[in-house]
Amino acid sequence: MTEKILITGGAGYIGSHTTLEFLLAGKEVVVLDNLCNGSPEALLRIERLCGKQPELIIGDICDASILNELFDKHRIAAVLHFAGLKSVSESVREPLAYYENNVMGSLNLCKAMARAGVYHLVFSSSATVYGDPAQMPIHENVPTGALTNPYGRSKLIVEQLLQDLADSDPRWSIAILRYFNPVGAHSSGLIGEDPQGTPNNLLPYVAQVAIGRFSELAVYGNDYPTRDGTGVRDYIHVVDLASGHLKALQAIESTNGVKTWNLGTGTGYTVLEVIKAFERASGRQVPYRIVSRRPGDVAECWASPAKAAEELDWHAVHDLETMMIDLWRWQLKNPRGYSPQAIQLV
Ligand code: NAD
Ligand code: UFG
Repeated sequence: MTEKILITGGAGYIGSHTTLEFLLAGKEVVVLDNLCNGSPEALLRIERLCGKQPELIIGDICDASILNELFDKHRIAAVLHFAGLKSVSESVREPLAYYENNVMGSLNLCKAMARAGVYHLVFSSSATVYGDPAQMPIHENVPTGALTNPYGRSKLIVEQLLQDLADSDPRWSIAILRYFNPVGAHSSGLIGEDPQGTPNNLLPYVAQVAIGRFSELAVYGNDYPTRDGTGVRDYIHVVDLASGHLKALQAIESTNGVKTWNLGTGTGYTVLEVIKAFERASGRQVPYRIVSRRPGDVAECWASPAKAAEELDWHAVHDLETMMIDLWRWQLKNPRGYSPQAIQLV
């Protein structure tokens, strides 16, 4: 039986781009996804791009029997664990769903892995675990912060759980990847981010203003201590993020314990700079209005990617302009994401 990589959440935004990257690198992939925020269409499109479609198992990481069956049926070499819920505001309204999917789901996955003798894991964490650090850029040794929402806490709890697990058994080899702000889409325009309902994040919202679904963008605050008063973030092309997973898995293949890497570009842009870059890339205007700050937002958040550069030989290669061009191509080709329905214009 060929060894495969299990990708939980592989039908979602980052998981689908990473699935493509792994298939292109010649790996066999099995995707486990409950499709609560993913689409089987993404996997069909991956086949169009690389000639191979990963097997999709529709199921939940909270379901131990599905996990055990999967590990019994397939010879899994390692797991990339993307599956989870990711909306900060929703996590405040529905904390139990976040602790259940993100914490209990990860715990279930680790139990099933141990039962099957699979000890290599790459976990999708977030720069949110740093809270609001006093200094930029953020290095991995900056202490994790006081978190203000259940989503962030669920990521930090899983990080701690993974450390305890690796401390208890030297067979575990775990990469914790702290993503900064993933944006953009595959350059083909065939796969990209398909947020359900009104997007929470800046770039999907900007693109949907440009396509005519919303009339204007609300910019959350222009009174931060930054270049132009708007929030600064480290936007990273999703394809760069995907390639970071390949490098991280290679790096943990022959070690043990937990390794933590930031995946960011090392450059921060303000909201207004991002809007301008998007307008240049798309040739469309993005009307916006300054409103008050969004609770829980920090002024600045950008990475030092030096550790990933040194230890993984990984560098983000796509610049902001390319992120915007690729996002716009995806949005134009797929005005309603993976859904075949026509777009409702405002
Ligand atoms: P996404 O919602 O597009 O993908 C997550 C996928 O997991 C979806 O396809 C969803 O259907 C699936 N899923 C969710 N709960 C599941 C469950 N219980 N069982 C099985 N499948 C389940 O999100 P994404 O942007 O691709 O994020 C992937 C991971 O990266 C998440 O863990 C997220 O928290 C983390 N992350 C994302 C960002 C970001 O800004 N996108 C930033 C930092 C970290
Ligand atoms: N913003 C707006 N208007 C919007 C949306 C966002 O002005 O409609 C601003 C925010 O105030 C912030 C910036 O755009 O200054 C980026 O906001 P996002 O919501 O796109 O991203 P966040 O930095 O708040 O958070 C994202 C993910 C988190 C993840 C974090 C990691 O949503 O899950 O990146 O840095 F943890």
